Amino acid sequence: MRFGVLTGGGDCPGLNAAIRAVVRRAARSGHETVGFLDGWKGLRDDLVRPLPVEAVQGILNRGGTILGSSRTNPFAKEADAAKVLAALAKERIDVLVAIGGDDTLSAARELAGRGRPVVGVPKTMDNDVAGTDWTFGFHSAVAVAVDALERLRDTADSHHRAIVLEVMGRHAGWVALLTGLAGGADATLLPEVPYDEETLLRSVRAAVAARGYALVVASEGIELGPRKGATGARDEFGHELLREREVGAELARRIQEATGVESRSAQIGHIQRGGPPELFDRVLATRLGAGAVDLALAGRFGEVAVLRGERIEGIPLAEAVGTTKTVPPEWVDLMRTFEA
Ligand code: F6P
Repeated sequence: MRFGVLTGGGDCPGLNAAIRAVVRRAARSGHETVGFLDGWKGLRDDLVRPLPVEAVQGILNRGGTILGSSRTNPFAKEADAAKVLAALAKERIDVLVAIGGDDTLSAARELAGRGRPVVGVPKTMDNDVAGTDWTFGFHSAVAVAVDALERLRDTADSHHRAIVLEVMGRHAGWVALLTGLAGGADATLLPEVPYDEETLLRSVRAAVAARGYALVVASEGIELGPRKGATGARDEFGHELLREREVGAELARRIQEATGVESRSAQIGHIQRGGPPELFDRVLATRLGAGAVDLALAGRFGEVAVLRGERIEGIPLAEAVGTTKTVPPEWVDLMRTFEA
């Protein structure tokens, strides 16, 4: 068989580990792999590179993706969809492995619906793909955010300030939740929990009274109302660029105004997406990449490899896309236990 592989959507640590696993697992059974560059754009425009085993040596621990990525939606225009089908035929691809989040896997499902052999690998630092316990990229991103929070703690403590750390995560609060839990935030704001200014101010006041400073973690996806300066720009899948709303900066302004505590904010943005994958992400990406090849070898096209408990399993792409896996109430309850 000839495998094609692509990485689409926002990059995250572990993509190279997954590409390596696809190539090595396929090679073990005598199959070859080629890579399409920059996500679905590479398939649409027929941008290919061979991926012999030597091409994936030394990439297990490297951040980003050696194939490049983009947020190209290949099915937004029928003319582009036709190009994708033509490139698959021209490159003699027997099965495509699409590595990505909800958008990339939705496009994979569309391709499967058009009768093409495709399997998926879920990834995203947001951890919001349904059907899998965790996505790779997430733990590495949270480790960066926790490190940032610990650094902010030093300076907040020294200056007796309130500091708000704004983290990514789109409309799921997983990154904020685990950053707040692991970093010991006094308040953590998630898109899943309607914003309540009184509760936030109470936490900030209590923390400042107890030890002279306060730390707040805010997810970029929380709703604080329209923001001046935001362009409302959207990507090809229709997603607003949430960081432009600068909710962290707005919260710091509100906290200072209401409490009189000098306040600052930090938006770590894409810093969360770079760097080497943490142990958990390396292993998960490796298992999922190999798992996707196993699905293909078993003829289970139209499925995506997922983590369920301790096991890697295959589920239909349709089960994994279209719904955002949000933070459930029991996690919110745990988070509340530690709020000031
Ligand atoms: O989907 C991953 C993600 O990092 C989100 O958390 C964030 O909102 C978005 O990508 C940023 O997208 P871009 O890199 O296109 O600015």
